[in-house]
Amino acid sequence: MSSQLEPYIKRIKNGEVVAIPTETVYGLAAHAWNPVAINRVYSLKNRPSDNPLIIHIAHKDQLDEFIEELSPLHKELMNRFWPGPLTILFPANSKVLSIVTAGLPTVALRMPNHPLTLELIRNTGPLVAPSANISGTPSATKPNHVYEDFGSEIAILDGGSCDYGLESTVVEILNNELIIHRPGAITAEDLCAIAPLSTRVEPAQAAPRSPGQKYRHYAPNARVEWMPENPSMIEKDACMLISLKNFSKNITTTETLTYFEQLDWQGDWLAFAKNLYDCFRRADHNNLKTIYIEDIRSSEYQHPMKDALVNRIEKAITRA
Ligand code: TXA
Ligand code: MG
Repeated sequence: MSSQLEPYIKRIKNGEVVAIPTETVYGLAAHAWNPVAINRVYSLKNRPSDNPLIIHIAHKDQLDEFIEELSPLHKELMNRFWPGPLTILFPANSKVLSIVTAGLPTVALRMPNHPLTLELIRNTGPLVAPSANISGTPSATKPNHVYEDFGSEIAILDGGSCDYGLESTVVEILNNELIIHRPGAITAEDLCAIAPLSTRVEPAQAAPRSPGQKYRHYAPNARVEWMPENPSMIEKDACMLISLKNFSKNITTTETLTYFEQLDWQGDWLAFAKNLYDCFRRADHNNLKTIYIEDIRSSEYQHPMKDALVNRIEKAITRA
């Protein structure tokens, strides 16, 4: 075992909360069978108690602690995509703590693909881990983001920058069809190779099947907007322009401005996704008023990360 991990294993076993790296975003982890530690996760994050947590496992055997039954489709999803950025909802058994499921009949599980965290979980047992940010703010994709939100209150296991930078895809199986509750790096196209995707549109309701979707998410204090078609509409004062490939070369400024930052990812979608929350956080550090992002919604833009990016950006725009 890597000796780097020993103090973190001890802390988890002692009931402490520890920030852990994953391939998507950092998680705020506690032992999945320790209700006191899990309570602390909710209070540290200021997370509403009706928003359930994902349990992270390192081995398929660890599933049995939590689930009632395993359908062939569940097995196929696990075999195909774990370890990896896919969270799967399973029917929960009666022992799973209700503070984990927020009282829902399902429990969310995933096997993250990060060597340090997998080794940690092999030693501690399964961990709950919501994203390691204060609720409503952009998720943490680097150790210093976790520090920004929680200071020295919690230990941070440093696993570098997260590979994807956006949270996992959340999927549920209903009547042999798949429902994507949150798009991520495992795409609709990946999933429909396994089973048909449900076209059921979830009605707006007080208790949606995946409660996290109803909360304000991923939003910096700065206003986020799609780049207007006419660049003269941009308020250049105190703004950040994030371009995937097209717009920022047309926009220049000779004015003296409080702050003006232009970022061009030169067509690199993965870098765009990986750095999105870091850009949001940097904009807030610099007290920026507006973040303009190249409008990637039209069909000329195609990439596996597109759905997840559009989803997170739109949530940051509407602050829904
Ligand atoms: O990539 C990720 O999934 C990261 C890393 C740390 O693993 N975690 C993460 O957790 O994003 P969190 O808590 O920020 O988002 C979990 C989402 C929420 O939208 C929550 O409502 C949903 O998963 N969820 C959790 N358990 C559920 C359940 N039993 N039924 C429906 N939705 C559930
Ligand atoms: Mg979150």
